[in-house]
Amino acid sequence: MHELEASARKPITLGSHVLAGRALLAPMSGITDHGFRMAADRFGASLVVSEMVAADQLALGDEESRLRAEGEGIALHVVQLAGCGPGPMSEGARVAEASGAQVIDINMGCPAKRVTGGWSGSALMRDLAHAQTLIDAVRDAVSVPVTLKMRLGWDETALNAPELARRAEDAGLALVTVHGRTRQQFYKGQANWAAVRAVREATRLPLIVNGDIAGPQEAKAALEASGADGVMLGRATLGRPWLVGEVARALEGMPEPAIDFAARRDALLAHYESLIAAFGEKKGVRHARKHVAAYAEHAAEAGAVVEAAELAEILQENTAKRVLDFLAALYSPARAA
Ligand SMILES: Cc1cc2nc3c(=O)[nH]c(=O)nc-3n(C[C@H](O)[C@H](O)[C@H](O)COP(=O)(O)O)c2cc1C
Repeated sequence: MHELEASARKPITLGSHVLAGRALLAPMSGITDHGFRMAADRFGASLVVSEMVAADQLALGDEESRLRAEGEGIALHVVQLAGCGPGPMSEGARVAEASGAQVIDINMGCPAKRVTGGWSGSALMRDLAHAQTLIDAVRDAVSVPVTLKMRLGWDETALNAPELARRAEDAGLALVTVHGRTRQQFYKGQANWAAVRAVREATRLPLIVNGDIAGPQEAKAALEASGADGVMLGRATLGRPWLVGEVARALEGMPEPAIDFAARRDALLAHYESLIAAFGEKKGVRHARKHVAAYAEHAAEAGAVVEAAELAEILQENTAKRVLDFLAALYSPARAA
């Protein structure tokens, strides 16, 4: 079958929301905090999804969960919920909607033992009847569109993503995302985009393919192999919140403008400051280190000179000021080789 050019396909819709493109930022615990999502959003991501939020904790008013679900200023506010009981899931969904969420995403893909041990995340794919009760509970609890993120199945012998997607469609969900690995693969091996085609054939819902997509070429290949409507990028975006927008533009056949160094600089600073504001200086500085390391790595790839010893020192700093100065200079002529 000849695939349509991505730009010739109909736009992805989420209930009444029409996405401007077909490249989404994946939810990543500890990474896609509010500031990072703001940056990805500004650089043209077609959709950004919050870190997974424990539905029961959000319902209890836990402050950290509230922070994870924050969406102020983001074009379309999507909160991803994880949980294993219909009661807490519907309560968490109601709280998220009341706090401004415009879309609720249900996590049925997380492989972490801490999560699957509690029968949430990808463990839900082992019991589709139970998964269905959560889908129905969330759908009934809110008036905003509900989406679902899953893996191919629990293991190679149980590739039931097509069946789960069919159930999601029957239940009135708005979109499904499939990471092309099983739970038992965790992050090993290569994501199997072609295996996502079985989900394409099972549902007419907007379908997003995910796993190992790091640029426009992989995005095009993943769309072609899977027949999906859009792509979702996770790990490759660390240190590069502009990457999702670049992929979105490439998929529409739009030319990529020259790098806007000032916009990158402003985004890095705004992101760092948001972490300090959210967590306080002590915790914020520590939490931000993986971002700082990744920002430095990608700035170096773009031609900035970053000495290893200097970076090592920055990553041990306990106060924000020096790190901010470092970030401010990363995309400046002063660093250029
Ligand atoms: C550090 C980390 C945290 C993640 N947290 C979540 C999460 O909270 N919710 C979720 O659905 N998936 C989560 N994932 C999975 C990603 O959304 C994505 O499905 C996976 O990383 C594969 O895509 P990639 O190869 O583009 O990274 C996480 C992945 C990583 C690496």
